[in-house]
Amino acid sequence: MKIRAAVLEEFGKPLEVQEVDLAEPKAGEVLVRLVACGVCHTDLYTASGADPSGYAPTVLGHEGAGVVERVGEGVGSVATGDHVVTLFSPQCRECVHCRDQRTNLCLAIRDQQGKGLLPDGTTRLSRDGEPIRHFMGTSTFAEYTVMPEIALAKVTQDAPLDRACLFACGLSTGLGAAMNTAKVEAGSTCVVFGAGMVGLGAVAGCRLQGAEQIVCVDLSEERLELAARHGATETLRGGPDVVQQILDLTGGFGADYTFEATGLVDVMRQAVEAARMGWGLATVCGVAGKGEELRVIPRLLITGRRVAGSSFGGVKGRDQVPQLVERYLRGEIDVDSFVSHRITLDDVNRGFELMEAQDGIRSVIDFGE
Ligand SMILES: NC(=O)c1ccc[n+]([C@@H]2O[C@H](COP(=O)([O-])OP(=O)(O)OC[C@H]3O[C@@H](n4cnc5c(N)ncnc54)[C@H](O)[C@@H]3O)[C@@H](O)[C@H]2O)c1
Ligand SMILES: [Zn+2]
Ligand SMILES: [Zn+2]
Repeated sequence: MKIRAAVLEEFGKPLEVQEVDLAEPKAGEVLVRLVACGVCHTDLYTASGADPSGYAPTVLGHEGAGVVERVGEGVGSVATGDHVVTLFSPQCRECVHCRDQRTNLCLAIRDQQGKGLLPDGTTRLSRDGEPIRHFMGTSTFAEYTVMPEIALAKVTQDAPLDRACLFACGLSTGLGAAMNTAKVEAGSTCVVFGAGMVGLGAVAGCRLQGAEQIVCVDLSEERLELAARHGATETLRGGPDVVQQILDLTGGFGADYTFEATGLVDVMRQAVEAARMGWGLATVCGVAGKGEELRVIPRLLITGRRVAGSSFGGVKGRDQVPQLVERYLRGEIDVDSFVSHRITLDDVNRGFELMEAQDGIRSVIDFGE
């Protein structure tokens, strides 16, 4: 079939919205009609050429939500008409990692997905017979996509898809960092560095876990105000002195749990230094630039601080994304406040501009019903 999609033709150039070919889903695959898709930093990171593992041409987009149109042979977990959230982090439920509670890093299709191919090593996307690769296994800046069944989370039909799409990446990453990776305990003290989509998700996650004190650190007053609405009990402006300010706020010790959601290695270091001696856990969510390193004084670790990293918040997507969406519908997470702009697929480059200008938290592409 012919579909419209935003193609990354050349790094550093605007995406080109155009007609491309999409083949029918093969065994284990699903054709999804996109209804909404958030514009995330990782799309921009790849489009800019900064991502060393990037490839072109490819259809970008990974924060998608839509409706199952058709299923390929052997697909049993979703059916035509189901509402789904796309997962760049799949869950096969069979591999050694899926069967272990300690990680969400499914191994089933990792190698092919990293190359922009579907699990059988080919693409369904093409143009004049030339293959176009599937970015992050999702390619959701498009009217339709074909994805593996194991990379789709079936969500309740009650959830508006233009908000459910945020659970496909940034929001689940922040929530999961607090709930799964750190497993924040009730009554504890938390610090979140960064109040973008991921950091605000972490603030909400700490609140849902029953944290008593949640300090949010950012450079933007506007974002700090939003953090307060999501549960931050104190807000601080970032900078070199902020670790001392955090120590002052936490009886001189630092916090039980700290989270980094900026992608800056200097802030990651602050997250480690602001964690409490004895048991403080610093969880790194941000993606650092190529070749950058995290510098930590080993004595901080000897005296009981720990460092963890979190991909997609440790969320096992098919099991947990539907649960997080349910919590949103119960009123526990204010997702509306994250949707700052609604744009059309043709405006996708404006979504990047808004992001670069830090105008709002998320732009969501609306494909129409
Ligand atoms: N681990 C994952 O699976 C995963 C998933 C999605 C995004 N990410 C990464 O998480 C990071 C955050 O993503 P986002 O979408 O929330 O980004 P964002 O740019 O919207 O938010 C980053 C925030 O950090 C703030 N900031 C900048 N310098 C600071 C400082 N010195 N101190 C405190 N705050 C500072 C900015 O003002 C901004 O609000 C990025 O690196 C992104 O690539 C990781
Ligand atoms: Zn993302
Ligand atoms: Zn798996």
